[in-house]
Amino acid sequence: MTGRPGPLPLRVDLEGLDPYGAPQLDVPVRLNVNENPYAPSRAVVDDIAAAVRQAAGGLNRYPDRDFPALREALADYLAVESHVRLDSSLIWAANGSNEVMVQILQAFGGPGRTVVSFAPTYSMYHEYARDTNTRWVQGERGDGFVLDLDEVAHTLEAERPSVLLLASPNNPTGTALGAEDVRRVLDLAATSGPEVHGVSGATLVVIDEAYGEFRREGVPSALEQLANHPHLVVSRTMSKAFGMAGLRVGYLAAAREIVDAIMLVRLPYHLSAITQAAALAALRHREELMAQVASLRGDRDALAVWLRGHGWQVADSDANFILFGTFPDREAVFRGLLERGVLIRVVGPEGWLRVSVGTPAEIEAFTAALKEVTA
Ligand SMILES: Cc1ncc(COP(=O)(O)O)c(C=O)c1O
Repeated sequence: MTGRPGPLPLRVDLEGLDPYGAPQLDVPVRLNVNENPYAPSRAVVDDIAAAVRQAAGGLNRYPDRDFPALREALADYLAVESHVRLDSSLIWAANGSNEVMVQILQAFGGPGRTVVSFAPTYSMYHEYARDTNTRWVQGERGDGFVLDLDEVAHTLEAERPSVLLLASPNNPTGTALGAEDVRRVLDLAATSGPEVHGVSGATLVVIDEAYGEFRREGVPSALEQLANHPHLVVSRTMSKAFGMAGLRVGYLAAAREIVDAIMLVRLPYHLSAITQAAALAALRHREELMAQVASLRGDRDALAVWLRGHGWQVADSDANFILFGTFPDREAVFRGLLERGVLIRVVGPEGWLRVSVGTPAEIEAFTAALKEVTA
């Protein structure tokens, strides 16, 4: 070597930043990242172990790049869960819905393109934009954290984004979009995108239904709108209701043209043979795993009643968490709970806190600790 190397050429926009991530603390009650609190049953564990064992025998080969069996199983699952039957060619999967959404922005965002969302919302959206060099524009939600359609119309017209990211149910507020709102947004987005071959293109509307299975009775999935809207993407995950956060499988449903575009940017063999085998095994147990969702929904509603009964404001939730407040010093409440072995999340507008719905014993520990801390 002829001289000392100079400073590393880190991208200027990444200088001085900290990596994203909620604290992973080893405390008895972890209610901070909206996981399903129930570990997989013995039967699920055994089936996954057997499937992984079988896949291990073929690990000298690359996995199936297009994973048709998994896409078929995910299409079957959606048909049961949301009563929408889709061809498996309209499904795409990756390592968590985080990766799915980055792939969407790799294909439809990038330099010179804009992605829009409305706060408060999932803080990773901003990072997807940054990492794909897509311009980030964030509007505000209206009263009660509801999407303000006038604000959406105005922002689409002013910014001409290629992608609109909307979480429904939204994180951290739990707010879901009604069917009429989704239809209105899709209409507004039909020609609000950047110019494509001399004409106004569409804005891709990504409805992130990571918590979709927890929606209340009568709240439909945006999957119902897919057939008539080629600019709609519905993103889902096995991390939340399905209780497989450690597996890292997220997926989307969209028109064939969108799936084809994503295949241009995905890394070859991005979904390992082990992941594919384990996900297929888990999906064989969908009835058992889905049964927990009903009880978690009931526990969520009961927790909301308890919090309101104790004088707190609660955002209506269609998810497996609740945003509640407001506290003059939310950090102090967070620390007080942590000292009592209960980890929740400081997130959302000033004064609010978010708690995930745990097992009945975990909820009991949370409510007891909250009473003490705020006494
Ligand atoms: C709204 C929302 N979307 C997507 C994700 C990412 O989930 P995963 O990458 O585990 O599928 C999360 C995780 O918390 C989320 O809250």
